[in-house]
Amino acid sequence: MAIDTPKVMLSEEQILQRVDELAVEISKDYAEKGEIVLVGVLKGAFIFLADLSRRLTIPRHIEFIAVASYEHGSVPTGAVRLVMDVRASIEDKHVLIVEDIVDTGHTLHYLIDMLKTRNPASVRTCALLHKEHNTDVEVNVDYLGFSIGDEWVVGYGLDYAEQGRSFPYIGSVQPDDQ
Ligand code: IMP
Repeated sequence: MAIDTPKVMLSEEQILQRVDELAVEISKDYAEKGEIVLVGVLKGAFIFLADLSRRLTIPRHIEFIAVASYEHGSVPTGAVRLVMDVRASIEDKHVLIVEDIVDTGHTLHYLIDMLKTRNPASVRTCALLHKEHNTDVEVNVDYLGFSIGDEWVVGYGLDYAEQGRSFPYIGSVQPDDQ
């Protein structure tokens, strides 16, 4: 299937309705805790983070982090490396990692372990999507938007080879190499 005609899986309305619900839940859970540090995982989470952060009713500080997967040829090895770090110290802060999608779990697992070494007050995770049947490493997603099957999805910040990030909905595509 061509990338310009994805099969719509989640409409813009469905996504924003769920983002509203997540924001209410997160705002309630952190109401007594003071400031929360949202750590958005680039690039895919940038739209989700923007929408989620604007709906929170608690004080929040926004950071970004970027990672890449180590590959052997074109095959992912499961190992992850840091490409861009957060700018601020997270010591004694309540950290919420905001991820677009959890697939094998390696990225989130790496980020949780890495950020925990910096003595934050807490680390929780929020992901818009989770391909639960693809999990290699168990990771706890504290706030989950939607569970989906094993399909490649684009839109709402997610891409296939840098295409499709700007679609307002989330749609599935069939990548050429699958
Ligand atoms: P994991 O380390 O296998 O959990 O992969 C997480 C990362 O893979 C996400 O942050 C995305 O960048 C990317 N990814 C996995 N599945 C998809 C997809 O269906 N569409 C777009 N990106 C994806």
